[in-house]
Amino acid sequence: MRRRPTPESFDPRQVRPWNDRLDGLGFGGDYNPEQWPDDVRLEDVGLMREAGVNLLSVAIFAWATIEPREGELDWGWLDDTMDRLHAAGVQVALATATASPPPWLTRKHPEILPRLADGTVLHQGSRQSYAVTHPVHRDYALRMAARVAERYRDHPALALWHVDNEIGCHVPRDYSEAAADAFREWLRARYGTVDGLNAAWGTAFWAQRYGSFDDVLPPLTTPAQANPTQQLDYDRFTSDALLDYYRDLRDTLREITPHVPVTTNLMAHSTTKGMDYFSWAPELDVVANDHYTIAADGERQVELAFSADLARGLAGGAPWILMEHSTSAVNWQPRNRAKLPGELLRNSLAHVARGADSVMFFQWRQSRAGAEKYHSAMVPHAGTDSDVWRDVVHLGRALRALGEVRGSRVRSRAALVVDWPSWWGAELDSHPTGDLRYMDQVQAWYAALWRHGVTVDLVPSHADLTGYDLVVLPTTYLVTDADAANVAAAAERGATVVVTYFSGIVDEHDHVRLGGYPGAFRELLGVRTEEFWPLQEGETARVVGKAVGGDATVDLWTEKTHVADGTEVVAAYDGGPLAGWPAVTRADAGAGQAWYVATRLDRPGLDALVGRLVAEAGVGPDLAAPAGVEVVRRWAEDGAASWLFVINHTEREAVLGDDGSPVAGTELLTGEPVGGRLTVPSGAVRVVRAA
Ligand code: GAL
Repeated sequence: MRRRPTPESFDPRQVRPWNDRLDGLGFGGDYNPEQWPDDVRLEDVGLMREAGVNLLSVAIFAWATIEPREGELDWGWLDDTMDRLHAAGVQVALATATASPPPWLTRKHPEILPRLADGTVLHQGSRQSYAVTHPVHRDYALRMAARVAERYRDHPALALWHVDNEIGCHVPRDYSEAAADAFREWLRARYGTVDGLNAAWGTAFWAQRYGSFDDVLPPLTTPAQANPTQQLDYDRFTSDALLDYYRDLRDTLREITPHVPVTTNLMAHSTTKGMDYFSWAPELDVVANDHYTIAADGERQVELAFSADLARGLAGGAPWILMEHSTSAVNWQPRNRAKLPGELLRNSLAHVARGADSVMFFQWRQSRAGAEKYHSAMVPHAGTDSDVWRDVVHLGRALRALGEVRGSRVRSRAALVVDWPSWWGAELDSHPTGDLRYMDQVQAWYAALWRHGVTVDLVPSHADLTGYDLVVLPTTYLVTDADAANVAAAAERGATVVVTYFSGIVDEHDHVRLGGYPGAFRELLGVRTEEFWPLQEGETARVVGKAVGGDATVDLWTEKTHVADGTEVVAAYDGGPLAGWPAVTRADAGAGQAWYVATRLDRPGLDALVGRLVAEAGVGPDLAAPAGVEVVRRWAEDGAASWLFVINHTEREAVLGDDGSPVAGTELLTGEPVGGRLTVPSGAVRVVRAA
């Protein structure tokens, strides 16, 4: 990879806040005027005013419109768009226009096309058909970004640079020649010598020893299992290569407009495995996230909350931008259901509750043609006489009423660890079970905490854990010595630390930590697992103990675990080959405690356990709410004010504040005073500025 260094003259203090010319919260979406004739574009501006739109992402997929033939540039439509938006009081997150290369480029340079592991070329005709590591593509992309930056550097509508689009979305792993070259270069930088690589990859096994970096390939299709560390390093390399592409574009923009903040839209949610966003986030001037709910998921509000909390974790707690979500149905799920009445407002404000200072959509106007014509938008095919449009206008009004929450932050004393290296490592092949999915474990714990009303911070295991009273590590398979020490230090200081099965198993090279599992946490937890005992598909076991609600059913995973002196067995297997062996343990650790959960508990068992952990760690919500009613508080930075968001996902009216913690203040969406008791109709949202 041939990235130029960040210009030395660059001073981060000169970067303007992305929202310094917005009143209150941002509201808008992707705007693709190149798909429409001028009369529609003129109508757009009027409708934007009606809805109260103040922020749009423009020119994301515009390369072929700006440059239809090499070197022939047509800026007229974009000039008009920028001027009209400015006149309408709309700020622009202007894209580098690089998200899809134009057809003339891939025809002239087919070598820039990405490849799958079996060599299949991903051709032109869709989007994102480029290899991020290809030097020819890189040159063209940087030139395009520079041209956009030169042209609009002083435009008053320019608020923010939007680099490319969802980098890595469609081609998270590329196996082209360019990628193979860049991988070898990355390995040289990581290991220095080929002996270093051999040691890390354990190549004494199966005659894989390398004599030269030139012999190394990406993990292609092999006769038997591929080297796991090679696969792990390819994940690391891929994440770094995609980030490198972002940084190169960012630095090109910074050279021209050092004062304009730069971001790219992340996809921080449970299926984005390819990019380690905790290594990406520090490179963004503001975190921007895209999130789409899955219509078939009956509890999609929980996965939405997870994504929003992850965006906030990536932002280090700072406010972030919701760059895309949908007004109603999407077009890429097996069955694309419209959103239910009120769901749009609930979704949007759930993101705001969890730290978003801007609410944006894909896209402003629903396309007539192309692969996304059945994807909802702010202006639907049906036009403005539609529920979607009325909901959009209503949302705009709601966001204006909530302007004062801008800049405020969520506070949490519970942390849930999310580590991409553990995600990559835990799902490598040839493991004790092929059924274990890292994110299932993380999300099960997240959901249990959500059900207990606990707002958690999602952080990596290397995060500063001071200030957390509860720290949960679900299947944190791969940890460095330093990260393991960081976790142990949290318990020493007084936190309750919870570690689940298949955690702390390997070091950063995917080499097993010997002496009994879970090597990195054995001492902290006071346990030593002799052997894993995964269950067959559909097989369950029974666990008994008060901490799991008396008895619980478990599946997926069990193990034969010994406890050290002083470690308490709080739940044990009942019957089966591991009858009597510990399933959940607890030990004192410094001023805190360390729990080990050696199996996958069913939902009631996990809820019982989480209830006890939350109570003992003292991280319960400050306000009791009925099940299914989401409560989150944002605080002014100085702590002088707070805003309570209450989202009623149930079919019944909810009443809060009756149980000794009164809700008092002003409800911002209705403007009504609240005098101790807050009634939230079914499906409604309320936001109370605390008195
Ligand atoms: C995102 C993408 C948008 C649009 C949207 C549809 O992944 O950034 O351009 O395709 O999905 O849901």
